[in-house]
Amino acid sequence: MPRRLVTLLLLLGAASATAAEDGALLYAQNCAACHLPDQMVVGPSLVEISKLYGKKPKEFVRWAVKPQKKRLGVIEMPSMAHLGEAKLLAIREHMLAAAVGLKEKPAITKDPLARPARRPEVRRIFMPNVGPAAIAVALPGDLNVCFDAGDCRLRTVWRGDFLDGWAYYKGAGKATATPLGKVLWSLPADESLQKRVKFLGYEVDAAGLPTFEYERDGARFRETFVAEGRDLVRRLEVVATEPVTFELDRATSASAGTRRESTLTLTPAEAKAFALTVRLP
Ligand code: HEC
Repeated sequence: MPRRLVTLLLLLGAASATAAEDGALLYAQNCAACHLPDQMVVGPSLVEISKLYGKKPKEFVRWAVKPQKKRLGVIEMPSMAHLGEAKLLAIREHMLAAAVGLKEKPAITKDPLARPARRPEVRRIFMPNVGPAAIAVALPGDLNVCFDAGDCRLRTVWRGDFLDGWAYYKGAGKATATPLGKVLWSLPADESLQKRVKFLGYEVDAAGLPTFEYERDGARFRETFVAEGRDLVRRLEVVATEPVTFELDRATSASAGTRRESTLTLTPAEAKAFALTVRLP
């Protein structure tokens, strides 16, 4: 073999070896969160991608640059245009190699990004209209609530999907998350309240359901949100030495206490354990 050709082959070999390495690394950094070798998770498996794009590098790049809405019940794939064609082709090489000899397994369906959490789920997030102290909770069933740790009270109730998982994913938890589904109940922020309350944290029970703990005007509150039928029930336990008052809207009724217009007053004995029910459409 002529020397020049050998050198050329060696160079090519070296070049493709780096490309393969880069492919694996780039795949791990940019794609592995949503694609597994032999199983559908957030996106299709590498086995499926190999079948679709085994002979179609150009089409593969086109997809990654401008993904489409193709499958039902999955999130939209974010564009990978920033990687550029060369890196995407290296990733494709890696995807094809990683799928060789594998068989498709049944899909993993409990995917936290693509589906609403139907077990209780708690996320500290930045939510529009609520601010940086929002704690969103997906309740079993189809209700979601947002507790504002600044005001120490319920701020938003919505029915349907939990949060825009992709915005959350992109920001590694720092992004403003948008509630999905339909907002059924909400309250504006109350700055005067913020001076009277102190957030103490929350405790999660064995099922994952949180109980929020806070102080207001010297009384100590424990509050748990549960769905009952179509309504939301706020279970409260208050340790107080003085009567406790709540400002309630028309949708909210109380299991104890005396109500005058919008003000509910409970004696310390009544406040020990009671419930507020928010009627929802
Ligand atoms: C945040 C999750 C996510 C990331 C990260 C991601 N994908 Fe995807 N990908 C998806 C989803 C979801 C689909 C299916 C979309 C649909 O069918 O509507 C998909 C589908 C695909 C498909 C199949 C297209 C088809 O025609 O069916 C390819 C190829 C693909 N992704 C490549 C990539 C590559 C390459 C990367 C990394 C550079 C990547 N994906 C990163 C979520 C992701």
